[in-house]
Amino acid sequence: MCGIVAYIGPRDAAPILLEGLQRLEYRGYDSAGIAVAPPAGAKGAKAAKGARGAHQDAPRELRVRKTKGRVADLAETVPARFKGGAGIGHTRWATHGEPSDANAHPHTDRAGRIAVVHNGILENADELRARLRDEGAEFLSETDTEVLAHLVSAQLAEADGDLEEAVRRSLQQVVGTYGVAVLDAEQPDRIVVARNGSPIVLGIGEKEMFAASDVAALVRYTRQVVHLDDGELAVVRADGFRTFTEDARATAKQPSTVDWEVGSFDTGEYEHFLAKEIHEQPAAVERTLSGRIDDRFATAHLGGLNLDPREARAFRRVKVLGCGSAYYAGELGAQLIEELSRVPAHAEPASEFRYRNPVIEADTLYIAVSQSGETYDTLAAVQEIKRKGGRVLGVVNTVGSAIARECDGGLYLHAGPEISVASTKAFTSTVVAFALIALHFGRVHDLSPADGRRICAGLKALPDQIRQILDHEKKTGQIAELAKRYADHPGMMFVGRVRGWPVAREGAQKLKEVSYVHAEAYPASELKHGPLALIGPELPTVAVVPDDELLEKNLTTLGEIRARRGRVLMVGHTAPDVKLAEDTVLVPRNEPELDPILLGIPLQLLAYHAAVALGRDVDKPRNLAKSVTVE
Ligand code: AGP
Repeated sequence: MCGIVAYIGPRDAAPILLEGLQRLEYRGYDSAGIAVAPPAGAKGAKAAKGARGAHQDAPRELRVRKTKGRVADLAETVPARFKGGAGIGHTRWATHGEPSDANAHPHTDRAGRIAVVHNGILENADELRARLRDEGAEFLSETDTEVLAHLVSAQLAEADGDLEEAVRRSLQQVVGTYGVAVLDAEQPDRIVVARNGSPIVLGIGEKEMFAASDVAALVRYTRQVVHLDDGELAVVRADGFRTFTEDARATAKQPSTVDWEVGSFDTGEYEHFLAKEIHEQPAAVERTLSGRIDDRFATAHLGGLNLDPREARAFRRVKVLGCGSAYYAGELGAQLIEELSRVPAHAEPASEFRYRNPVIEADTLYIAVSQSGETYDTLAAVQEIKRKGGRVLGVVNTVGSAIARECDGGLYLHAGPEISVASTKAFTSTVVAFALIALHFGRVHDLSPADGRRICAGLKALPDQIRQILDHEKKTGQIAELAKRYADHPGMMFVGRVRGWPVAREGAQKLKEVSYVHAEAYPASELKHGPLALIGPELPTVAVVPDDELLEKNLTTLGEIRARRGRVLMVGHTAPDVKLAEDTVLVPRNEPELDPILLGIPLQLLAYHAAVALGRDVDKPRNLAKSVTVE
C-alpha cells in the first residue's frame, strides 16, 4: 500500500525521506519518489538554467526524482547536490494507471512549483481533470493525484498565495479518500498535510518536524507523534505545527508517545520479519496480558473498556468485526465470549457488514478488530455503527490509530509493530485479548471463581507454552521438513471443528497468503456435505484436532479422509493411530477454551516454511499490502 513521508528542518531532507521510504517498504509498493524544495535564497533548477542573475525573479522549481522500482533504485538517481530542508516522499502501489516513472509520486503542477504525494482514491478525479484541462492544465500521468497538484496550483492565486488555504480549498472540491502532503517551492518553510480516510501522523523533533502515513517511518527520529483525524489538515514547519479542519476551524492536538523500538523494524537474527514475528509471540502475549489479570477476583482488569459491571452485564449480544486474519481472530474471540460469558457472540467480516445496511441494536456490543487500526473497511464499519448510535470497542495493536480513536473504548494488544504482511503475532495477541474480555464478561455473568482461576492460570501459561512449540521446532525442524513435502502439492485442505474451525481458516489463509499454494478451509463437520469429493492423494489435509469433547468426531473425519487415500497432517495433543494421520504435530495442552491459541502456532510455521521452500517473497507476498486503507 502507498506510503508517505515528509520532513522539514535544518537537515537535508533527501536522505531522511529515502530512509523513511525504506521503512515503509514492507507495506508493498511498485514505485517511489521524492520532491525537495530548494532552500530559501538558493536557485531553483529552472532559475539555474536561466540567464546569469535571472534567478532573483525566476520562479522557483522543486527538485523531483521518481522511478518505477525500489527505493534503492530511486536513491541512485538522487544526486548529492539535492539540497533542501523541506521535502516529501512516496512509495506507490498502483491504483490509477500502471506502475511507471510517470505515474510515480510526487506529482507536480505545470510550473514544477507544487508537489503532491497522496494515498487513497479521488473519486471525482476525471471530472476535475476535465475542468483543469479546460483551464490550461497539462497532465503527464494517468493518476488521480496529479489532478490535486494542478488544483492546488490553481487555488493558490485565489488564496493570495497562502498554501494552507489553497490546499484546504482544493480538498473541499475533492470526493474520495486521501492522506496527502503538499510542498511549495516558493514556501519552503512549510509542508501542508491532510487526512481523510488514509492515515497521516506528525512526528515532533528538536527544531524539526516529520510527517508520515505510518509511524514506522518516524520512530528512528522521534517518539512524539500526533495522529490527524479525518477531515483534518496541518501546516507543518520546522518549529511546530498547526492543525485545523476543512472548514478552517482550529483543532487542538495532544502528542502521544510511541513505545515501539527501532529494532522492531529490522529482521535482526532472522531472515524474514515473518519468522521474527512468529518467534516474538511469547513476548507479545506477555505484553498483551501484562497487568490485566486480576488474581484476587479471578477475572481480567480492563479499565480501557470503559464499561462498568452493570453496563457489561446489560449487553444481550456481541458482534465482532474485522477483516482477513483479524476476522478469524474475531471468530475465535466470539467463541470465547460466548463460551465463558454465555452471551451470544458472532463475528462477521467488517468488509461485508458495512455494505449491508446493518441493523444496529442498542443492547449489542460491537467489537472492532484491527492490527493496523487503519483498515478502511473496518473503520467504515465502526463509523456506521457509531452513526446509528451503537457502542463499539476496539481490539487494536496500533496506539492512536484511526479505529482506536473512533471506538468508545477497548484494548491495545501491545504486540509491537508487525511488519510482515502476513499477520502472526497480532493474530495471537488478538485472541489472547479476547480471552481477557471473555473472562471479564464471564465473571460479571455466571462464570464461577473456580473457572475464572482456571482461565487465569491458562492465560499465564501461554507464553511459555508458545516458547516450547517454537523451541521444539528449532531443535527438530519437524514442521520445516513437513512444509517442504506438503508444499509440493497443488493445494491443501484445512479442517477443524468448533474451536478448531477458525484455527483451520487462519491456517489456510496464512498458507495461501505467503506460499501461494491454494488452501481451502472447511468445518470438519461439513466435509461430507460436499468437499469430500475433492479428497484424494493429490490433496492433503491439515486437521486441527484438540483433545476436547469433539475428539472422537474429529478422528472419524480423519478416517473418512484416509479412506479416500488423502494424506493427513494432524495438529493436536495426542498422536492418533498412524492409520488416521500420516504426520502429527503436537502442542502442549492448555485449557480447552485457550487451546486454539497454541494450535495456531504450528500452522504459522507451516506457512512460513512452505513459502521459504517455494522461494516466495515471504514478507511482501504478491498483490498484498500490509494495511488496506482504501475501499
Ligand atoms: C493477515 O495475514 C492479512 N495480511 C490480512 O488478512 C489482515 O489481517 C487484514 O487485512 C486486516 O488487517 P488489520 O488487522 O490491520 O485491520
